[in-house]
Amino acid sequence: MTRAYLGTLAHLRRDPFQYPGALEIIERGALWVDERGRIVAFGDAGRIRRQLPPDAEIVDFGRAWLLPGLVDAHLHFPQYHVVAAANRGLLSWLRDSVYPAELAFRDPRYAAGVADALVSRLLRSGVTTAVMFGSQFPEATEALFEAARRRGLRLIAGITLMDRDGPEPLRTDPETAWRIAERLVQRYGDDPRLRYALTPRFALSCSPELLRMCGEFRRRYPQVYLQTHINETREEIAAVLRAFPDALHYLDVYDRFGLLGRRTLLAHNIHPQGSEMRALAESGSSVCHCPSSNLFLGSGLFPLRRHVQHGVPLAVGTDVGAGLHFWVWEELSECHKIQRLQGEAPTVAQLLHLVTLGAAQALALEAEIGNFAPGKAADFWVLDVAGDPYLDQRLRRCQSLEDQLFVLMHLARPDQCRAVFAAGRPCAGEAVES
Ligand code: GUN
Ligand code: ZN
Repeated sequence: MTRAYLGTLAHLRRDPFQYPGALEIIERGALWVDERGRIVAFGDAGRIRRQLPPDAEIVDFGRAWLLPGLVDAHLHFPQYHVVAAANRGLLSWLRDSVYPAELAFRDPRYAAGVADALVSRLLRSGVTTAVMFGSQFPEATEALFEAARRRGLRLIAGITLMDRDGPEPLRTDPETAWRIAERLVQRYGDDPRLRYALTPRFALSCSPELLRMCGEFRRRYPQVYLQTHINETREEIAAVLRAFPDALHYLDVYDRFGLLGRRTLLAHNIHPQGSEMRALAESGSSVCHCPSSNLFLGSGLFPLRRHVQHGVPLAVGTDVGAGLHFWVWEELSECHKIQRLQGEAPTVAQLLHLVTLGAAQALALEAEIGNFAPGKAADFWVLDVAGDPYLDQRLRRCQSLEDQLFVLMHLARPDQCRAVFAAGRPCAGEAVES
């Protein structure tokens, strides 16, 4: 049945880093969705209501906000139970806390329980698209894809690849990695909401042979994604340059094996060299900024302006388990603070871009998601703070709807996500805890 959802609509018509007027907020707005879960139109509620067919159902969310589904562009499935581990930086945290936690995913029943809990938790907090490092164990990663398929989460994921560094059971040799990737690409390739991502963990955990295999696989199956980490900490960068002494810089390691380009997503990139930024921009690869992770591990302050100046497509991720929560909306508040520490102040529109339209562009999914443009999938969520007397009063004191959105970026909580729709279907589901 065709439906119209009423509320305050907020989304980006285009890139606010280039167009200052890109943010559109419609106070008594309506989003018209057809029976296939596609957006037909959006706009003033009165105008849309006059255009609807007589049998259309009206769902009125009152003063709540309707926002495009959030994109969490970087998190780790097998780190679900290692959030907030005491640490003294990336490399020792991986060795002492992360690798032992990831070993537990050998148990397929445990992995399936976590997959359900994680997917449900993401959807309940407005995340309709996630890009994830899967488990090293294929059965566990399949459980993740199955949970996403059942509940309607749009998922880009793959088994985490490593063949040096870390305990033996977490390692996969290049031939096995090829076979697993091929099987999963074939199994999920027909589902428009699921995509496979080659996932070499980072340069330090991969042999040249494993990286070469990823490059060859990409040439054979150009539709697959590739995700990895880069330039996260100075200690890591020094170790990478020791391990790959011929490389010009960290990016060059990936470039040499043909891993860069559209559909490549590099997490962090906090400490890039000047020549590296130019090469990155030329390659067409995207970067995912993970604010709360960068603060928790003490990795550094992300140079947002340099990325924008170079035209690098950007997204934001929680990076669970280095990130401390599962709600990517909250990352916008952390992102603001990290930029303030560097004298910058991204606008509300620019922050929203990083988890909606900009993220969609960074993932080559802008024809499908990111805003309310007619024809796109009706992936959206409803933020309702009506039951919160303080927030209600605080919002009444704002000068504009844009100011209200800024306050909501800092003060809204995940339990204020009232409903979530993926391709027009309600999908928040019940809480599954694991
Ligand atoms: N670099 C390599 N592996 C990881 C990981 O699991 N988390 C983070 N934050 N950085 C990494
Ligand atoms: Zn990560």
